[in-house]
Amino acid sequence: MLRTQRLGRALQILKETTSTNMEAACLAQLGVEHGTVIVAEHQTAGKGRLGRAWYSPAGGNLYCSVILRATAPPEQPPKGLSWVPLASAVAAARAVHTITGLLSTLKWPNDLLVGHRKLGGLLCESGVAGRQNLYVVIGLGLNVNVRREAFPADLQNVATSLASELGRSVDRAALLASFLYELEPRVNPLLAGLTVKSSDLLHEYSSLCSTLGRRVRVSLADGATVEGLAHSIALNGSLCIVEGDGKAGKLVEVQAGDVTHLR
Ligand code: BTN
Repeated sequence: MLRTQRLGRALQILKETTSTNMEAACLAQLGVEHGTVIVAEHQTAGKGRLGRAWYSPAGGNLYCSVILRATAPPEQPPKGLSWVPLASAVAAARAVHTITGLLSTLKWPNDLLVGHRKLGGLLCESGVAGRQNLYVVIGLGLNVNVRREAFPADLQNVATSLASELGRSVDRAALLASFLYELEPRVNPLLAGLTVKSSDLLHEYSSLCSTLGRRVRVSLADGATVEGLAHSIALNGSLCIVEGDGKAGKLVEVQAGDVTHLR
């Protein structure tokens, strides 16, 4: 049952689309209301982070996108906007736990893991509709009822699904409703311009984040890599890494990148 104020009150369910994020961006341009959600049974061109594809077969996974509208003008985006992907990941992990009892962790910035395997991920994209309206699309892909054995060979060792972890199928509508319920109170303050100081969200994210305290390698967009000990999450959501062996190295803040957990 939907228990939100606005998220998911307008809902479109599609049998097939290229990508719910692309669909959502088009709808945002057309002016649909804040909180509109697009769900698809199958994506033919599902998008992952960093230009990757998202494996999106029909038959039981969750592919959804939520359109958020910010009231601030695009040239002055809300200060907490960089936290939307991290807040969304917390909401997804909470929903998985509420509906299934399974504890997942977060690989910075917003991969859901069970052990070392990826259960789901989020792709957040922003744009401007018309001249004035800043919007954010939160796209969640969660492997729900497609079993690991059915994944392509290259994903079988690195990905998992709820059905594979639990040995039973899981109600996708309940997961979606729970995700939206967890998401709304976490993103509303961010859209309203509040910043993440030493807030609950920072603590909540940090306690779910299995990247912290580990040795990591991060590939950056320019091809460079940073290697060291993942130390903490900065107030803007960046990952703080102590370079080298993690004792007396330089502290580097990474805003975006592809993290590998080492050892
Ligand atoms: C990642 O690379 O981990 C992010 C994956 C995000 C996939 C979801 S599925 C629903 C939405 N539509 C897309 O095309 N991508 C996101």
